[in-house]
Amino acid sequence: MYVCICKGITDNQIREAVGDGCDSLRDLRRELGVGSQCGKCARHARHVLREARSANEVSSFSHSSGGEAVVFWPQTA
Ligand code: FES
Repeated sequence: MYVCICKGITDNQIREAVGDGCDSLRDLRRELGVGSQCGKCARHARHVLREARSANEVSSFSHSSGGEAVVFWPQTA
């Protein structure tokens, strides 16, 4: 879906940019040009950015634990 009509930027491009390290609307503006003309897309772009960041955090957590549940058994003395 198009987020920024002026620059022809889609939500998938924003998600990709977040995966590549973009962490703010300023980063997206610099990398993709989002919000650099009329600015009407800024609010939606920020929403997609937040969504993508939290998805990346969940994904990196599951990678760090190998995606498996960690169970702690009670210690017996
Ligand atoms: S819609 Fe993004 S700058 Fe105009």
